[in-house]
Formats: sequence, C-alpha cells, structure tokens
Amino acid sequence: MEKIRVGVLFGGRSSEHSISCISANSIINVIDREKYEVIPIGITKDNSWVIFSDKTPFLTLSKTELPEVTKEGIQDNKPAIFSKFPPEELVSLDVIFPVLHGPYGEDGTIQGLIDLHAIAFVGAGVLSSSIGMDKTTSKALLKAAGFPVGDFVTILDSQWTNDKANVLKKIQELTLPVFVKPARAGSSVGIQKIKEFSKVEKAIEEARLHDKRIIVEASIENAREIECAVITGEERKPAKASLPAEIIVKKGHEFYDFEAKYMDDSAELVVPAKLDKKVLADLQKMAVNVFDFFNCEGLARIDFFITKDDEILVNEINTMPGFTPISMFPRMWEATGMKYKELVDYLIQEALNRPIGLH
Ligand SMILES: Nc1ncnc2c1ncn2[C@@H]1O[C@H](COP(=O)(O)OP(=O)(O)O)[C@@H](O)[C@H]1O
Ligand SMILES: [Mg+2]
Repeated sequence: MEKIRVGVLFGGRSSEHSISCISANSIINVIDREKYEVIPIGITKDNSWVIFSDKTPFLTLSKTELPEVTKEGIQDNKPAIFSKFPPEELVSLDVIFPVLHGPYGEDGTIQGLIDLHAIAFVGAGVLSSSIGMDKTTSKALLKAAGFPVGDFVTILDSQWTNDKANVLKKIQELTLPVFVKPARAGSSVGIQKIKEFSKVEKAIEEARLHDKRIIVEASIENAREIECAVITGEERKPAKASLPAEIIVKKGHEFYDFEAKYMDDSAELVVPAKLDKKVLADLQKMAVNVFDFFNCEGLARIDFFITKDDEILVNEINTMPGFTPISMFPRMWEATGMKYKELVDYLIQEALNRPIGLH
C-alpha cells in the first residue's frame, strides 16, 4: 500500500517563527511512518521555501538557542531542495499540516495557497483563519453575535491618521487600565497594558509598528485566564471541547506577556483548571459555539476570562495554537484522554476525510 504523503510546514515570516519550528519538530517526531511519508518543509523569515529529508528526532532543542529555518537549513539538517516560491513538490502531497503561527501562516494566506492547489490540509480554512487572526474583526463579530466580550475600541489606519481626536475620545470612555494590541500579531507581541490615559497614544504608535490596525480593550481586572481546546468531531459529529486549563501569571509580569509565555517560568499552567461544574459546562459549550460560529475546522484554542463574579468572557480564538507536547492545546487533550501522537493522527485523518474546496 502506498503511504500517505504528509507535508509539515513550519517557520514562516511571523515573530512566532521559532515557536512554529518547535511545534513542527514535535509533530514530525510522532507521525506514524508505517502509514505516512513525512516531507518537512521550512519557510525562512524572508519567504524562501526549503524541503528537508525526513529524520527523527528532527531537531535537537536547546534552552539557549531558538531554531530558525535559513537557506542553509535548520541546525545540521541541510535542505534537499530550495525554492523561492512554493515548491513544485507541494502538488505531490496528499495532505499538509501547516504548523505555522501568526501572520502569513495562521491568517488564511497559506490556507489560500494550499486551497488553490486543491490539497487537503489540517486546520481552519481561509476565512476562519483570517478572522481568527484579526482581533478587530473577531471581537466585532463575537459581539454582534451576542457572545460576551469586554468593552473595546477598534482603530483603522485611516481613523488614526485623519481623526485621532475622536478615536482618543472613544478610548477615554473605556475604564482604565486598557490593553493596546496590534490586530494581527500573536504571542503578546506589541501588546501593552496602560494605566494612564496620557500614555495611550504612545502605546498605539508602538503597536502600529506591528500592524496599522489596532484594538484597545478595557482590562478585565482580577480575572482568571482559562483556555479550552476544541477539535472537529468524528464523521461530521459536533465539535468536542477538552477540559479547560488555567494560566496563572506570577509576580513580575503584569499579564501573560511574551517572556511569561516562552522565556521564563513565571506562568503556571494548571491542567485541567479547577472550575465549578456549571462554569465548566458553560465554558465548554461556549468554546464549541465559538468554534462553530467561526466555521473552524480541525482544531482551535479558544481563550476566555472568568471575572470575579464568575462571568465568562471570550478573549480570542487561535486557529493554529502552539503544538509542542508542553503547549496548552495538546496538554488539554492529554488531560481529556487523548495522547499527543493520537491527536496528531486524528487531525491528519480529519483533514483527509474532509472534502476539498467549497463544501
Ligand atoms: N482585556 C484584557 N483584560 C485583561 N487581560 C488581558 C486583556 N487582553 C489581553 N490580556 C492579557 O494579555 C495577554 C495577551 O493578549 P491576547 O489578546 O491573548 O493576545 P495574543 O494573541 O498575543 O495572545 C492575555 O493572555 C492576557 O494575559
Ligand atoms: Mg492570547
């Protein structure tokens, strides 16, 4: 029997390049070689595509050096083929696992490219990926659909350029502190918590270095931060929510920032989260509803806040969440009874079973 050819895409142009390499390494290492042939495909930060031969373990991870795909390869793996544009080999693949986080990976662009080649792929399609990436669009849609979200103001480039006074007036109506965020970033890059109104303008200018589209949100103070993993159900059955997990950020960090996420051990991850039965059931139901509302496929991680009064608020949706064995998404499934290797296989099979294109 011919093996199924799986392309694993990693790296990419976003600030989450290295995190993507680490996620992809874990996935490449566990794919069942009896069933699948694995084709690792790296994308450099300047958008060159490199194809590697299969090898496990794929990378040797170190605490001090983050992996990066370059034209020379990644660590001691040399690329077999190097191409500026999507390589011709792409068309020979049966399914692609785009393990890419952030812009130009998790935002529908790669998904569109794969769709044009009529190849099956893991995860959300073009529209769901783009909406999930853009905090201004996803928040506005969630609000319009009646999902509970905190107060926010969105700022388009033209509004900031032509009507700054009015924008600042609207922000002044939010209660301080506020979070200033680029609409399309990730890993907390470009996000600041601002406690004085006089500092908002500078924070917006700094966030605009990452994206000219901005969202300013009222801070949900003293809230618990809870995440929930969702996957598509078997054979078009309803989507399934995992047991949720909690992030507890320790002293020294105002919030779950980049350092707390990847560089130090100041964030404690409690898997599964200790939640009251009713809150647990409501949160899992809402996670599935958000997944369905955005028409997600395969997988997504939905992040929430639970206020002091046990009110559940949706924070954001991630259509290609971190995927190392210690990342929240696989850990939540592990706690729910699905092991890492099984989860990877489930997602690849789900992608293969789903019709390609409009369906
Ligand atoms: N409105 C808010 N209230 C309280 N904390 C927030 C709010 N928005 C963001 N945060 C904090 O900032 C972190 C990053 O924000 P988030 O919107 O999740 O961006 P990213 O996509 O970069 O993960 C969150 O995990 C949380 O700790
Ligand atoms: Mg987040």
